[in-house]
Formats: sequence, C-alpha cells, structure tokens
Amino acid sequence: MRVGVCISGASGAVYAKRLIEFLDGKVELFIVASDEAKKIFKDETGISIDNFLNDKKVKYYENDDFYSPLASGSFKVDAGVVVPCSVKSLSAIANGFSGNLIYRFADVCIKEHRKLVLVVRETPLSPIHLENMLKLARIGVTILPPIPAFYNKPRTIDDIVDFVVGRILDVIGIENSIYKRWA
Ligand SMILES: Cc1cc2nc3c(=O)[nH]c(=O)nc-3n(C[C@H](O)[C@H](O)[C@H](O)COP(=O)(O)O)c2cc1C
Repeated sequence: MRVGVCISGASGAVYAKRLIEFLDGKVELFIVASDEAKKIFKDETGISIDNFLNDKKVKYYENDDFYSPLASGSFKVDAGVVVPCSVKSLSAIANGFSGNLIYRFADVCIKEHRKLVLVVRETPLSPIHLENMLKLARIGVTILPPIPAFYNKPRTIDDIVDFVVGRILDVIGIENSIYKRWA
C-alpha cells in the first residue's frame, strides 16, 4: 500500500509524527512538508523533520518538487492525508489551486477518486472554513478535525493523539489498535 502524508503549517505536528511512526515500515510512505510546517514541527515536537525522518523508510519531497511522483495521477497512491491541515491549505485544496506539491497531490487524489483525509486544525471556524470543508466533504474528501473523545477515558496526551491518529488509520483502511474503541 502507498500512502502520502503531507504536513502543513497548522498546530498539531505531533499527529503527523505519530502517524508516520505508526506507518513506517508497514506501507510505502511518501512525505511532503510545507515551509511553515517545518518550523512548527521543530517548535512543537522539539525535533526537526529532517532528523525525525532520518531513520525512517520514507521518501521525502520538497513542497516545490513537481517532479515528485506524487504530482502525477499516473503514479498510483492508495490514500493521501494532510495532517495537520491549515485553513490556508484547506482553501487551496477546496479551490483546485495546485500551487505546491501538497495542493497538487490533494488535487490528484480528488481527480483520481482516491482516499483523501484532511485533518483541519483551527478554532473557532469561520463560515469560509466551514464552506470549504463542506465543499470537499460533498465530493468524498474526509474532513477529520483532530477532536478528541473522552468516552475512552484518555489519561495522557499520547492517548489523545493516538485516538486521532487511530481514526485517520481507520479511514484510510489500515488495521490498528492504537486507541481504545467503544465496545
Ligand atoms: C505556531 C503557529 C501555529 C499555527 N497554527 C495554525 C493552525 O492551527 N491552523 C491554521 O490554519 N493555521 C495556523 N498557523 C498559520 C499557518 O501556518 C499559515 O497560515 C501558513 O501560511 C500555512 O501555510 P501552509 O498551509 O502552506 O503550511 C499557525 C502558524 C504558526 C506560526
């Protein structure tokens, strides 16, 4: 299975970090990060994306690299995730603006009817954000804001992160037991 994980410049780099840690070695993994994402990743997790990815079996592409296979619909990818997804990236994707590799990859996922999950992180949400999300949800994109549940009695931040990452994995069809399910 091939999965593209795109990291944009919203708060919540830890979700991308945990998702990549879980998928590493299990699927063929392709990573793109925006310039803002690189800064926020270092700020929020204490490690640079470069160092974090250093020992991972992933293929990493710069966000201006339209020569990446992710930029072409003829390169088959099973699922794409933008995590976290800023409202700027949400807007670009909702409007078909393929100005960087993240937007282009999302656009390819949509045009090829492939699974696409946007982990949109902003609060409160304006009517513009909500309209962009609705537009995408109507055409089959999964809008998965990183909203924790409390019925599973999380004890740590890791529990909360794992719940969100587990829900992303469920949507893209990857077996996992990293969070406590309602039974
Ligand atoms: C520390 C920090 C946290 C941010 N958090 C968010 C956020 O949660 N959601 C969001 O939409 N934008 C957030 N932003 C603003 C985006 O980074 C900014 O709009 C940027 O242009 C997004 O670009 P990108 O989507 O290409 O990464 C944050 C910026 C900084 C510096």
